[in-house]
Amino acid sequence: MDNQNTALNTKKKASFTGSLGFVLAAAGSAVGLGNIWRFPYLAAKHGGGLFILVYIILALTFGFALLTTDIAIGRKTGKSALQAYGALSKKWGFLGALSFIVPAIILTYYSVVGGWITKYAADYIINDTSVMAKDGYFTSFITSNISPIVFTFIFLAVTAVIVFFGVEKGIEKFSKFVMPGLLVLIIGIAIFSLTLSHTENGVTRNGLDGLARYFVPDFSKVTLSSFFQLLLDATGQLFYSLSVAMGIMITYGSYVKKDVNLSKSVSQIEIFDTAVAILSGLMIVPTVFIFSGEAGLENSGAGLMFVALPKVFEAMGVIGKYVGITFFIMVIFAALTSSVSIMETIVASCMGFFKTTRKKTSLIIAAIFATASVVICLGYNVLYFELTLPNGAVGQLLDVMDYLSNSVLMPIISLLTCILIGWILKPKSIIEEMEVGGVRFKKKTLYIAIVKYIAPVMLALILAQALGITNLLLK
Ligand code: ALA
Repeated sequence: MDNQNTALNTKKKASFTGSLGFVLAAAGSAVGLGNIWRFPYLAAKHGGGLFILVYIILALTFGFALLTTDIAIGRKTGKSALQAYGALSKKWGFLGALSFIVPAIILTYYSVVGGWITKYAADYIINDTSVMAKDGYFTSFITSNISPIVFTFIFLAVTAVIVFFGVEKGIEKFSKFVMPGLLVLIIGIAIFSLTLSHTENGVTRNGLDGLARYFVPDFSKVTLSSFFQLLLDATGQLFYSLSVAMGIMITYGSYVKKDVNLSKSVSQIEIFDTAVAILSGLMIVPTVFIFSGEAGLENSGAGLMFVALPKVFEAMGVIGKYVGITFFIMVIFAALTSSVSIMETIVASCMGFFKTTRKKTSLIIAAIFATASVVICLGYNVLYFELTLPNGAVGQLLDVMDYLSNSVLMPIISLLTCILIGWILKPKSIIEEMEVGGVRFKKKTLYIAIVKYIAPVMLALILAQALGITNLLLK
């Protein structure tokens, strides 16, 4: 039966039905925790406006080149990440193995954070808003024995079911339904949050104050060193958010038919991803500022979504419960379309390597990652430790995995990809793919400049920062 299915799989290669299905699935992969949880925190940390401006410029240049390269490699070779680099050049096949490791690392903890979100959505349905707003609620949940594991399994099981049904019936259908809905919800909550106002200790803050805190750059605190840090944070965010250097866009690119205009698709994915990131900031940063002021925004990272926002929902009164339910369900959808793309990349690579069927591979991969995610959950429990990472951050197991994949492996993979495409195979190898069927690749010159010169320098800087070298130099 397995052999029969494999034969069928090779005869009729999985593909998206058309350009819209591909763009929504790729945007679904891109839009996730990076946009809703990470971008707002970074924008708040760097004073808002300037970070947003730098991020947009980077997305249009650096992000465009990396996304173009990944998707074109996928469609050109017709192979998923593990095999695609080897198909381009035998000697560079090791890059495929490297880019297979990244989604494998990410999935171990993405499903754990997905579990946290699922738990919060259930909490808002069952409980009063004051329960989740209590000090220490988040910490007592993630350090507990059973609950984080149960919710991680629920999130992982849904991810596996979608991957099990494959590209067209699973991923494309799910993304076509979720992505437009997500956009409408985010815009709705963002507009709603701007109508709020709150008075505390005689000080009233309204939507306009929140809007100003988010968009107006605060140049008074900008120094050369802080601007450098902003630039590096924005570039790192771009990687994570666009799902580049994780093998994902190579895999999705391999499902794209030759008559799809890749150039147009890349622009659409980028616009969608950047718009959702900016809108997510708009729905979170002003709201937290209105209700909790500058101090609330200092609750950075995981805290911004799981600790600061519940306090905001509580302060909203009766409607807070419904805003909370809507918000966390929406984040579940965004995170699911990303976790699906991460698992799909692993499953597709294994199917190609072991010549197994989709269904069998999905089940085995789901079981392996269920086990791995238990270990990550226990990282807040019996396996708790604190480690100072080379970039100065202090972390435990989940942070170490995040650091290894996002800060170390992704810049290395991108840097090596730029060397391979920019200097060994030459940019024409990608440009040809972009121009298949007589399509004009308008940003050709920009692409060449970025892939050959600008991206390698930026990537080397990011890597230096991750390894703690820039901190030493800026001291
Ligand atoms: N690109 C995905 C996200 O933003 C991984 O969450």
